[in-house]
Amino acid sequence: MNPAANLVLVGPMGAGKTTLGRALAARLGLRLQDVDSAVEQEAGASVTELFAREGEAGFRAREKAMLARLLKGEGVLIATGGGAVLDADNRQAMRARAFVVYLPVDVATQLVRLTGDGSRPLLARPDREQVLHDLATARSPLYREVADLVFDTHGLAADTAANRLVDRL
Ligand code: S3P
Repeated sequence: MNPAANLVLVGPMGAGKTTLGRALAARLGLRLQDVDSAVEQEAGASVTELFAREGEAGFRAREKAMLARLLKGEGVLIATGGGAVLDADNRQAMRARAFVVYLPVDVATQLVRLTGDGSRPLLARPDREQVLHDLATARSPLYREVADLVFDTHGLAADTAANRLVDRL
């Protein structure tokens, strides 16, 4: 990986993008920017509030603008939201401006990690497991399309995963 390049983490909700991002940032000397958090800060509203107020389309427009802005930097480590790969311009911008790492995760692990979490509007319904399967079917090819590296963290603590990932960059 080019030292001036950006690093982008993609993958589904509960894949550990933010957790691994924190562990990586320290090791690589990069600034971690979480797209969801940056959107929330700029809007002064949570992702859930933005979905309710502006619809998913409104959130996606904010997400797209924020991702484009963050990708203009250099040496930025970006944790994306799980749906950032849906937009073809986003995928093209990530590929052009960053080394992209896809963190796959299985639905059983997602369910454990996301149980009790009320911050994901797409999962605010009783059939969460089915939703996660459907999202995986629709999005896995997009994560693969955009990724320079597929990195499986299954069973690894964040620190261990970060050490191993650094060796592969
Ligand atoms: C979404 C994932 C969330 C957040 C929003 C939509 C998605 O981010 O952007 O709730 O479409 O998968 P995380 O992947 O960080 O949970």
